[in-house]
Formats: sequence, C-alpha cells, structure tokens
Amino acid sequence: MLIQKPPPIPPSEITPPAVWAQRRELLKAALALAGTGAALAAGGRLLAATPAQTDPALAVIPNVRPSPLSTDEPRTSREDVTGYNNFYEFGTGKADPKANAGSLKPRPWSVVVDGACEAPGTIGIEDVLSGFTQEERIYRLRCVEAWAMVIPWVGFPLGDLLKRFKPTSQARYVAFETLLDPQQMPGQRRSVLDWPYREGLRMDEAMHPLTILATGLYGQVLPNQNGAPLRLVVPWKYGFKSIKSIVRISFVETQPLNTWQAMAPDEYGFYANVNPSVDHPRWSQARHRAIGEGLFAGKHKTLPFNGYADQVASLYAGMDLRRNF
Ligand code: MTE
Repeated sequence: MLIQKPPPIPPSEITPPAVWAQRRELLKAALALAGTGAALAAGGRLLAATPAQTDPALAVIPNVRPSPLSTDEPRTSREDVTGYNNFYEFGTGKADPKANAGSLKPRPWSVVVDGACEAPGTIGIEDVLSGFTQEERIYRLRCVEAWAMVIPWVGFPLGDLLKRFKPTSQARYVAFETLLDPQQMPGQRRSVLDWPYREGLRMDEAMHPLTILATGLYGQVLPNQNGAPLRLVVPWKYGFKSIKSIVRISFVETQPLNTWQAMAPDEYGFYANVNPSVDHPRWSQARHRAIGEGLFAGKHKTLPFNGYADQVASLYAGMDLRRNF
C-alpha cells in the first residue's frame, strides 16, 4: 500500500537553526561515507548513537529497519522524551515518571490476548521482540495538553500481532489494560485514576498500518517511564490513547470505556483524534508547544489528525467529529 508522509513542519520551526544545521552536516558526512540507502539507515544510527541519545543501562534492539512512514522532522532530544512524561502510575508531575519508575520490572513480562478470537493466548516480551520485524518509526506525539514531541520509536504494526490471535467477526473493538500492581506502580496506591489504566481502539484503527506497538525508542528498549516493555502509539490521536506497560489486549464487541473518558466524559472522548477545530472545554487545541524549544518559543499550528489526514480521515467518513471527539 502506498502511504504518503504527513506534510512536514519546516525543521527550522522546531529546532534552533544552528542545531539543525549541525545535524544535517552529520547526515551529509554519513552519506558521503557509504552508499545512499545504507547511509540513510546509518544516518539514523549515527544520531541515535550519540552518547547523550542513548542510555548505557538499556539494551540496543538489533536489526531495526528504518520505516518510510517516519516523519523527517527533527527529533526531540532523548533527554526531553525520557524526562517529561505522563505516567500517572508513577506520579502526576512531568518529572515523576523518570524519578519513580525504577520500581517497575519490565522483565519477565507477558501479555494476555483474549476475547473474541479463535486463538487466545499469552505472548512474552522476548517473543514480541524476536517475532516481529522491528522498525524505527519517527512520529510526532501530540498530547491533549497542547504540547508535542517528535519521537524515534522502535516498534511494529499492532495489526501484525492481532492477526496471530485470529479475531472473529464479533471483534469490533480492541481493549487494552496496563499492569495493576501498586508494589511496582506506587501511584496506584492513590485513587487519582480508576486503575488499571485502560484504552480502546475500533478494529479498523487497530489494524491501520500507522498504529504500532512500541518496544523501544532511540534504538534501545523502552525506558520504564515511557511504558516499558510495550506500549501503544497511534500517531493521529492525542497521546492519552498511547497506553503504556500493556498486560492485556482483548477483542470485544462493544466500545470499551477508556480511563480518561470514564474520569471526565465531557473533556475526553473515545476517539481522541487530534482536531484543531474542536477545543478541549478548558483550552484551545488549535496550536501546540514543541517540547525542547523553551518557554519563549512560539506555538505551532496543530494539523487535523496530527498531519495524517490523508491516511486516516477516510476511517471517519460521515461521522460528526464534533460529537465523536
Ligand atoms: N499510560 C498509562 N498506563 N498511564 C498514563 O498515565 N498517560 C498517557 C499515555 N499513556 C498514561 C499512559 C498520556 S496522557 C500521554 S500524553 C502519553 O502516555 C505520554 O507518553 P510519554 O510519557 O512516553 O511521552
């Protein structure tokens, strides 16, 4: 299938020009060293291997293929991607997940897949890593709180995993659940949310080639604070759909209730498609701040479906997106 890339935001709008120019120089050097195809891949690795962009404590994921579905916008620094997070199981502040997620044990780990399917079962994280071709997918994550980052995920299409469990015609939605373990996730000792964190997708959204299960970022396995060892990433939806540290995936017939929708149904819907023309009741969704640019940088215009309208708008043809927010 031919899938177009989302329209790029000019890189100069995101990263200070000097930094951007330096990155282009690095990439050009890589291109000069090797043939074009190999060098493009090497360019990614070259940047990912910069000391500040890796963590010596985390395993490198081997044989990661670059994906044509990546955006070519400059990436948010690893420091920001792993230091400014939402993961309420470890606290409600942006710095809390990095500070507190050390208690999560992402190995061994397994995910139960059940519900309306012919072959329900369990899959271990090692089988997930070795059984599916891992790709680098650089996507912009647009949070409902009106900020965004560009993250080099490592992952694979969720649909590849779902197919193995042979969903039946009753499977109209997919429901996801995060680990429930207040020992490992101290934030669950407080009832800020109705634990475990839950999310859901319609079957066609789940099977869409842009929807991935992420196993890593910046070439290495996921840091705990980003949802180790396995989290969802749906690039045209607000970040809260990207459920972290998944332990259960269920095929269901009726639309599942997600955690934020259950908490505040007037503010958070099931679809959560990025939509600059439907504001959150308490703030505008027309623009967003790019993390890493500093507080005084201007805001960026938010695009419908986060820039992926060409690929996904047809999934919602005929739907009133003001009502189905
Ligand atoms: N998953 C769980 N289990 N718990 C959470 O609190 N927060 C969500 C989502 N997934 C959350 C979660 C929200 S609001 C966002 S914006 C993204 O994770 C943030 O992902 P990041 O911290 O990796 O950038």
